[in-house]
Amino acid sequence: MQQFTKIQEMKDYLRPMQSAGQKIGLVPTMGYLHEGHLSLIRRAVQESDIAVVSIFVNPIQFGPSEDLAKYPHNLAKDLELIDKTGAAVVFTPDAVEMYGDNHLTFVHVEKITDILCGPFRPGHFQGVATVVNKLFNIVRPDKAYFGQKDGQQAMVIQKMVRDLNMDVTIITCPTVREADGLAMSSRNTYLNVAERSQAPVLYQVLTAAKDMIQGSITDGVLIKKQIKTMISSKPLANIEYISLVDASSFREISQVSGPVMIALAVKFGATRLIDNIIVEG
Ligand code: PAF
Repeated sequence: MQQFTKIQEMKDYLRPMQSAGQKIGLVPTMGYLHEGHLSLIRRAVQESDIAVVSIFVNPIQFGPSEDLAKYPHNLAKDLELIDKTGAAVVFTPDAVEMYGDNHLTFVHVEKITDILCGPFRPGHFQGVATVVNKLFNIVRPDKAYFGQKDGQQAMVIQKMVRDLNMDVTIITCPTVREADGLAMSSRNTYLNVAERSQAPVLYQVLTAAKDMIQGSITDGVLIKKQIKTMISSKPLANIEYISLVDASSFREISQVSGPVMIALAVKFGATRLIDNIIVEG
């Protein structure tokens, strides 16, 4: 497995292979890898000639009061895990390499960044879209892999790719869950024992909402009320939002009449967890 920390070296390594017709799959990550990331990497290995994994904790997608400084990392372990998947290349630039000292250009996807996590994390999706665009320019992947757990992020990247005519196919892969349903996330490590024991409520409410919709309940207000009641029964949970959005337009809906994404963000202490499921309404 090759590791590169410099943009030019990464490009110089990949371009001749791309000219020879080799297909590149990219899995962008912020490291501290878990089974969710590994499922994306394995898929990229399966579907491409060269699978590239980037590890970069992107400072511009964190707000001033967010967890950039304490974001978990363990590069040695990440490299070991990636090596076992058969991925060929790891790209691990630092912030100076990625942004220099006078970075003035950003990618902003409108509207679909104003809902769900958007209002709670101002600037977050602009930071994500910008770094993903940069990674696409550096790696020039044929396919790039993202997890459904970050459903809004996947939609924002899809939209950026379509709107800016980028030559990359975005593959959104299913959320990988712990045995009790909690979606895997690097941030789960922040939870204390009591918080961790209550966090599976997120998946329980999503499943309950799915059952309601499949039982022909279409009233969004009623569905959200039921979710809120269930989450509120957990004393350590603080709801940030519960939303139902049309799975293709990403507009908030009050009545379910087709595929819907039920999405939520809930804080346990200082730890903010997100989860979602798509239900064919
Ligand atoms: O989902 C993530 O880990 C990050 O938002 C991403 C896509 C790697 C961009 O920094």
